[in-house]
Amino acid sequence: MDLIHRPRRLRRTEPVRALVRETALNVGDLIYPMFVAEGEGVRDPIDSMPGQFRFSVDELVKECREVRALGVGAVNLFGYSEEKDAQATRACDPDGLVQRSARALKAALPDLCVQTDVALDPYTTHGHDGLIVNGEVANDESVEALCRMALSHAEAGVDWVAPSDMMDGRVGAIRHALDASGFKDVGILAYSAKYASCFYGPFRGALKSAPVKGQGIPEDKKTYQMDPANIREAMKEIALDIEEGADVVMVKPALAYLDVIARVREAFDVPVAAYSVSGEYGMILAASERGWVDRDRAILETLVAIKRAGADMILTYFAKEVAQWLASD
Ligand code: PBG
Repeated sequence: MDLIHRPRRLRRTEPVRALVRETALNVGDLIYPMFVAEGEGVRDPIDSMPGQFRFSVDELVKECREVRALGVGAVNLFGYSEEKDAQATRACDPDGLVQRSARALKAALPDLCVQTDVALDPYTTHGHDGLIVNGEVANDESVEALCRMALSHAEAGVDWVAPSDMMDGRVGAIRHALDASGFKDVGILAYSAKYASCFYGPFRGALKSAPVKGQGIPEDKKTYQMDPANIREAMKEIALDIEEGADVVMVKPALAYLDVIARVREAFDVPVAAYSVSGEYGMILAASERGWVDRDRAILETLVAIKRAGADMILTYFAKEVAQWLASD
């Protein structure tokens, strides 16, 4: 055949493929989401997320030393609380679990970028990210509570707060609250385009934070998280969060929303994060257990796809493992 173009020339050997490879996954791109719990010497395996643990503060510090030594520069903390109430009182406790974790981590590993989740769901009896007023998730009252929560994290020394609640105006309110208290250097990683997704199931198991049923309040998060069918609305949410002072914007989940990541990357000149969520983690584990996909290749292929779509940084439960692979390459 008389062919001018033979793209296969550039696929003949691994060194040639390496030369033309367009996307590289780096350890510096990874953010490790981690769960903290009360106690000492605790590494409690999470049933719904095999391979992940709830760490007591001392164990969290040990684990983060290892993770940092592997080159991972950032962790994102979620608190597991058994002390839940309607007002999420424990969320803002200056001596609460996440606040103590942040203090301990910053003391032990000053250059680790410590990020904390800001949302009320792990601390509310009803499981919503905000407060309930008159049977609804009330926006403005929730934002006030979220500001108090973010401030308590800033006081504990976190590098970034990560509001994951999807209330309107919370990024601006948190920015304002942080600045008013002198926390000008605390960054905001905003969950900007967060969808009402089925893929959060294992995470809600890990924190016992699923919305309650049969109590006359919303049984899902669709009045604040976004409709999976929408992308124009995602662009609006991202634009608003940037205007309100977000340092980094996030799309979540990742795999089913690669088009959203790509559009956001094209349209805005700010760093973009993607969260490969617990259900994505679970799908890879479950399919590989059945021998349907190769586990390690599935992990790398999906992470590279998320980067190729345009994410600068990725929250992934595989962060430690992938860092080990990248370190031994
Ligand atoms: C809640 C929150 C959720 C996740 C991160 N923060 C769950 C939810 O919105 O119900 C999901 C993370 C994951 O599934 O890995 N503020």
